[in-house]
Amino acid sequence: MIRFVARQLLLSATVWMLSSSVFAGVLSLDVCIGCHGHDGMGKSDPTYPVIAGTPIGHIEEAIFAYIDGARRCVTEPRMCEAVASLSDKQVTVAAMYFSNQVRGPTHEDFDADLAAKGAELHERHCGACHVPPHDENAAHAIGIPLHGQRADYIRFAIVAYLRGDRDPLLDTMAHELHQLEAGDLDALVNYYSSYRSAE
Ligand code: HEC
Ligand code: HEC
Repeated sequence: MIRFVARQLLLSATVWMLSSSVFAGVLSLDVCIGCHGHDGMGKSDPTYPVIAGTPIGHIEEAIFAYIDGARRCVTEPRMCEAVASLSDKQVTVAAMYFSNQVRGPTHEDFDADLAAKGAELHERHCGACHVPPHDENAAHAIGIPLHGQRADYIRFAIVAYLRGDRDPLLDTMAHELHQLEAGDLDALVNYYSSYRSAE
């Protein structure tokens, strides 16, 4: 009986350690998982981005932008609060965890005509820096993958740069975003939503 109780205690302690913190003693990712999901595919609110399979360097770069104020979390302050006091090492641990998750399909609806127009716009204005997540050069591309990202997040993020809620890292991107005309944003978002190669 005593041996049985001891074994149960040991088991529940192990399960508790595994579930309460993926990297026990280093960083609990529970808070991040609450919004981005265990699988990094984004949960509940459609403006919570997919971060599964995003190259480590891009995740780190984005988190540092929230920490140093280049991205200001105007609609969801809890995102900035969650990363505000992370050390460089913790940022890397979080980036490694989410980068290692499989980036699945988002199954977003899209309009085929708008997506075709968006593909041309992407080539002309964005493709030099933003490549699909499964491209062999994705980790070395200058921009974060947009193909297969949640549509509402992409829309939200582009508007954030245009409104000044985010400072773009590169003036070249700011210049390209300002070239977009009425309707172009919709076309681009439909194009990125049409990406299905992860299926
Ligand atoms: C309350 C929900 C919430 C929590 C908690 C949260 N996030 Fe976020 N995350 C968001 C939202 C919303 C954005 C976009 C915010 C913006 O730019 O204004 C975002 C953006 C990001 C991005 C940028 C993605 C990209 O493609 O540029 C990364 C990386 C990220 N979060 C990682 C984390 C990590 C790591 C944690 C935990 C330490 C965390 N988040 C906690 C909601 C959340
Ligand atoms: C010169 C390279 C470059 C070009 C061209 C460029 N971008 Fe970017 N983009 C970046 C970089 C670098 C980042 C990440 C740093 C930042 O937030 O500025 C980024 C980030 C983004 C993000 C945020 C992604 C995320 O996950 O949070 C969006 C949305 C975006 N770009 C859209 C576009 C669109 C649409 C175009 C074309 C109209 C474009 N970019 C053209 C380099 C570029």
